[in-house]
Amino acid sequence: MKTIIYYFTGTGNSLAAARKIAAGLGDCEVVPIASLQDTQGDILPGADRVGIVCPVYFTGLPAMVASFAGRLDLSRSHYTFSVVTLGGFGGQSALRQLAGILKDRPGRGPDAGFMVKMPSNYILLYEPPAGKKCEEILSAAHAQLESIAQAVNNSVKTAPGYSPLAQLVHFLFYSRFASHVHADDRKFSVNDQCTSCGTCAAICPAKNIELVDGRPVWKHHCELCCGCIHLCPVEAIQGGKKTAGRVRYRNPEIDNADFTAQKGERP
Ligand SMILES: Cc1cc2nc3c(=O)[nH]c(=O)nc-3n(C[C@H](O)[C@H](O)[C@H](O)COP(=O)(O)O)c2cc1C
Repeated sequence: MKTIIYYFTGTGNSLAAARKIAAGLGDCEVVPIASLQDTQGDILPGADRVGIVCPVYFTGLPAMVASFAGRLDLSRSHYTFSVVTLGGFGGQSALRQLAGILKDRPGRGPDAGFMVKMPSNYILLYEPPAGKKCEEILSAAHAQLESIAQAVNNSVKTAPGYSPLAQLVHFLFYSRFASHVHADDRKFSVNDQCTSCGTCAAICPAKNIELVDGRPVWKHHCELCCGCIHLCPVEAIQGGKKTAGRVRYRNPEIDNADFTAQKGERP
């Protein structure tokens, strides 16, 4: 039975999750959603099972994932599942948002939805976890991902769940996030530590960064994944005044070539 898992990632958690699940499924292709961003029209996966794995942003979906889901035609899929990775809050609303988008598309909506707590990368708001705390979160996530693969193999069905608080936060803040996100890169800046290595431009899943005179320039179609801040090797990129000095995070299983490949370009 063939499976395709589509994923989006900023700092590697969702790709690591997609790979871990894929390893438990057998014949499984892992496809970056970012590699489809310049294509148009419906996406009709030729697989019996389809999975979508992505982070939670503001209790909802990354904008690129929402627009991808709006193009999916799941008529050939016999089982569809979604997995959201998150720092800890709002996964139910993100799963509900995805189910709502797919309900209006051809084919079946998600048969099952799962939330996996992973280290939070929202450095604009707070310090990501580090050291032992980070290791513990990742180790618990790995165990959970193995059981998700088993659940998928057993075609388990689950409802997205409902959290009134998450739904309220989603109602209050997600639309604003989605309508402003592309220009939110206006708060990003680079300091004199920049070595013009080009990592930020290479790893950006939205192709939103260009080097001009050796320095990154953000082009206002940002996804706010914060990958550029986290993956800059000299921590020269900041997002507002509070990120200087905060710990940077990347999933330890994912390297720069993986991030670069996400857009469908060769590293
Ligand atoms: C813009 C942004 C918004 C986020 N919002 C939430 C949120 O609402 N709830 C939550 O639990 N985590 C939130 N996070 C944390 C991520 O969902 C979490 O770290 C995720 O695992 C990152 O996945 P990635 O490494 O695949 O990018 C947010 C992160 C970012 C960058």
